[in-house]
Amino acid sequence: MEPIKIAIDGPAGAGKSTIAQELAKRLKYTYIDTGAMYRGITYEVIKRGIDINDQTAIIELAKKININFVKGDLYIDDVLIKSEIRSNDVSQRVSYIARIPEIREIMVNAQRKIAINQNVVMDGRDIGTNVLVDAQLKLFLTATVEERSRRRYQELKEKSVITSLKEIEEDIKKRDKMDEERSCAPLVMAKDAIKIDTTEKTIEEIIQQIIYLLGERIN
Ligand code: CDP
Ligand code: CDP
Repeated sequence: MEPIKIAIDGPAGAGKSTIAQELAKRLKYTYIDTGAMYRGITYEVIKRGIDINDQTAIIELAKKININFVKGDLYIDDVLIKSEIRSNDVSQRVSYIARIPEIREIMVNAQRKIAINQNVVMDGRDIGTNVLVDAQLKLFLTATVEERSRRRYQELKEKSVITSLKEIEEDIKKRDKMDEERSCAPLVMAKDAIKIDTTEKTIEEIIQQIIYLLGERIN
């Protein structure tokens, strides 16, 4: 039987990774956080002191390093990468790197390879439109920018990351704009995706809705 693919896209803070992760756990599918891959390469660029505008050096680095998921954890050249990819430094730079076509090609090839022989829930910006165009279920999660910023602020506060609501809202707005306006695989809803506004919904309500939609498609 062909593996099942669930594609979840949407802007920052819409609830993609929380929902995708929990859904994968319940369905016993593999969860792939593609944003973590773009964050991972950005983290390496910063760590190695590479100029964010030096696209040649960034592409060379992406070809050289090995980004991999093992049991849901991200590894770069066999080193486990955790919360360091969620820092403000990474968040502020990631969309500059994610708009480079050669970087996207490397990431997309790796993402498609993972989905060849297992059931996956994959979240990102271009999963339904580009990475897994034949996914059996495509979802596009949204929420107001105020709600998304509030959620992210709350999340970082709980992890004792020093930041402000204003700073987060500015970062999210800027990233959304760059992701939506880039020429290569921009953030846009796939024609065959189902839109879910998460603003006033609980995580459990959304998961139940998705499980219902999946049942309609694969049973
Ligand atoms: O968690 P959050 O929504 O803040 O972002 P993320 O999913 O970790 O993604 C970080 C950034 O990576 C996004 O703002 C995009 O610039 C980029 N990204 C992308 O271009 N394509 C994807 N499939 C996933 C992420
Ligand atoms: O992956 P993405 O950036 O789309 O969002 P996320 O990191 O999954 O969600 C951001 C925060 O919002 C998390 O702390 C979630 O627990 C929270 N959230 C929520 O409170 N209510 C929802 N309906 C969805 C997410």
